[in-house]
Amino acid sequence: MIGVLGGGQLGRMLGLAGLRLGRRFCFLDPAPDAPAAAVGKHIVAPFDDRAALDELASLCDVVTFEFENVPAASARRLDPDVPVYPPPQALEAAQRRPEEKRWFEKLGIPTASFASATNSKELRNGLENVGLPAMVKAAVGGYDGKGQRIVRDAIAAGDVWATIGAEEVLIERLVEFERELSIIAVRSGRGKTAFYPLVENHHRDGILRMSVSPAADLSPELQAEAGEIAYALLEALDYVGVLAVELFQTSSGLLANEMAPRVHNSGHFSIDASCSSQFENHIRAISNLPLGSTEPVGRATMFNLISELPDIEALLRVEGLRVHLYDKQPRPGRKLGHVTLVDADDRSVDHVRRLLSEPMS
Ligand SMILES: Nc1ncnc2c1ncn2[C@@H]1O[C@H](COP(=O)(O)OP(=O)(O)O)[C@@H](O)[C@H]1O
Ligand SMILES: [Mg+2]
Repeated sequence: MIGVLGGGQLGRMLGLAGLRLGRRFCFLDPAPDAPAAAVGKHIVAPFDDRAALDELASLCDVVTFEFENVPAASARRLDPDVPVYPPPQALEAAQRRPEEKRWFEKLGIPTASFASATNSKELRNGLENVGLPAMVKAAVGGYDGKGQRIVRDAIAAGDVWATIGAEEVLIERLVEFERELSIIAVRSGRGKTAFYPLVENHHRDGILRMSVSPAADLSPELQAEAGEIAYALLEALDYVGVLAVELFQTSSGLLANEMAPRVHNSGHFSIDASCSSQFENHIRAISNLPLGSTEPVGRATMFNLISELPDIEALLRVEGLRVHLYDKQPRPGRKLGHVTLVDADDRSVDHVRRLLSEPMS
């Protein structure tokens, strides 16, 4: 029995992959309509509910999380009763943006220059040290581009403290990247590591819209550069499970943007285009089983379905298109599903773009 803190679509897809391996699931999530409830038992309670955590510990052989903003204290509390993977220290490292950047720095992983601030005076100093234009991000709780502001001039800097409304912020230099990439990596309980081919990611309004893997023009050198970054983190954090690292490709090499100590949206391609998906490999890793192959079976193009669902019947009519729906109520900015094409020609990709009202490339 695998316990999961969080019951969103990532939990649902973990469940779908784990059921095939004969695993059972128990999700802890405060939302009564959590998408993962369809694939396992669901404890409806806040993430810091003591009785609920005790119940989870008593039912499960291992606990993982699918949401990086679950309180680290909850993961720590479970730990003596039941193993928690990835280790809570990885959750802590990724939860606070300044802490995450310090890990990058400590491990010699290139990243945009940064500072942190807990008041408007520190913010002003931070902006001065980092230089403009800069990106200011809430230190905790942000996702899908929420809680972020670009500061281009001193005038804009004046009110950014109030508009972000966080107790602490991370200030980082705005990176002029060539493209955004991510690497999905996994480390088993036995210390074996595996890496998926780099993913090329396209965001709009801070939300991932489309991913392609393997990324176009992917050289072995670039793959190795990303692999070394992920490997350094996996080893340093004594990691077990899937780790995603978001990267900026620049003219002077890769810069790490952020990491996610969990399965990741940019790894969804792996369900349909890899020997073993990121979800299956996460389950294998935390269950102390051998890892599955991360080799691609084709080139994947994945689109997220965001805010509202397009004409699903029209999508289902597209030859070879894999449709994944999360059974979530539409809401602006919400991820409701995704679709993946494998080894598709430009015509089919453009056809899907039209059906999704996505801008043409
Ligand atoms: N320092 C930066 N320079 C340029 N673009 C950035 C920077 N930081 C973030 N972005 C853009 O904003 C997106 C979301 O930021 P990110 O730090 O990944 O937060 P989230 O947790 O919301 O994914 C990134 O994918 C990238 O497109
Ligand atoms: Mg991100």
